[in-house]
Amino acid sequence: MKYIKDQENLNDKIVLLRLDLNVPIKNGVITDETRINKILPIINFLIEKKSKILVISHVGRPKGKIINDLSLRPICENLEIKTAQKIRLVRENIYKLKKEDLFRNSKDRIIFLENIRFYEEEEKNDAIFSKNLAKLADIFVNDAFSCSHRAHASVSKITEFLPSFAGLQLETEISALKKVTTEIKKPITCIIGGSKISTKIGLIKNLIPKFDNIIIVGAMANNILNYKGYPIGKSLKEKNCETLIYDIFETAKNYSCLINYPEDVVVGKNMNDNAIIKEPNEVSNDDLILDIGPKTIKKIKNIIELSETILWNGPAGYFENPSFANGCNEITKKIIEQNEKNLIYSIAGGGDTIAVLNQMNAIDNFNFVSTAGGAFLEYLEGKNLPGIKALN
Ligand code: 3PG
Repeated sequence: MKYIKDQENLNDKIVLLRLDLNVPIKNGVITDETRINKILPIINFLIEKKSKILVISHVGRPKGKIINDLSLRPICENLEIKTAQKIRLVRENIYKLKKEDLFRNSKDRIIFLENIRFYEEEEKNDAIFSKNLAKLADIFVNDAFSCSHRAHASVSKITEFLPSFAGLQLETEISALKKVTTEIKKPITCIIGGSKISTKIGLIKNLIPKFDNIIIVGAMANNILNYKGYPIGKSLKEKNCETLIYDIFETAKNYSCLINYPEDVVVGKNMNDNAIIKEPNEVSNDDLILDIGPKTIKKIKNIIELSETILWNGPAGYFENPSFANGCNEITKKIIEQNEKNLIYSIAGGGDTIAVLNQMNAIDNFNFVSTAGGAFLEYLEGKNLPGIKALN
């Protein structure tokens, strides 16, 4: 792999920079800026080298459609303040853009292309689309470790058309994850939650041989509860997961890995509602499961207490509403308590998990925090991530 930090001649070069600026945005306001802060070093590095920076990122999952709420504009505005640079957001169709038109104004240092997932070709890893992107720049830099599990055009295919390099944050994340995975102390526990069920449920099975405990919480757990025959009302659920879940429990039988899922839940009628604790069999048709209950929290705390390493990826509930943040708060507090006594090595990953830790001012109390969610888990699985493979 070639690293951008080792490159000398970047003066005046147009660098196509893939970032992961997939930050949570509510009503146009960014609610967690960690991913933006983490890419400031690469921006500053390239500015120092006098490169011209052409940023690509996605936000959300627009699935090839232009969705104004998923524009990168709020992120550009945020970055303008942080970098003290004027940033131009180019909304023209990529196929119509010309390299020579991009940095015409000599003062332009950073230009953003609009949300790359507005093009369906992105997720298809389309070669013609990648070629068109490549025409706009001189070199490509991937500084989006958290997207490197996606075989997408701006992560993978693009490397076939431009000299390609690993960015600073990508390098930091990979070396930190390499270190923690080779020096791991057992018993080791993985807490998996969040709402990206489709991304994560398929990989739990492959994590089983590596862990002593897997704790499934958040919307992920709804599928398990449903599979076990409990009602889940209107809760978030992924379709056609039964075989995957069957495999999880069957695989766990062959290893000394315990699969844990909620023994009680907290429900509301909508996301803004107040919390009601229920046994799983009491969930009614119009309920939404939005957090784990006290019995589950107690059990998780016991497991954390017995663990020497803990990995946490994905919130335990809808933490944005304080009524449903108890699971996240209690897990965080317990991990911090064990960390302070030096009894545990703690790693957290993923945009939403980072938001939880920021909300609790706890980000510095973990041994390592990765910006990556799905990529972090796939790396742990031992998978060769497409974005990394492409750079190699
Ligand atoms: C993430 O938030 O994990 C990355 O931005 C990837 O997003 P995705 O799961 O929508 O591909």
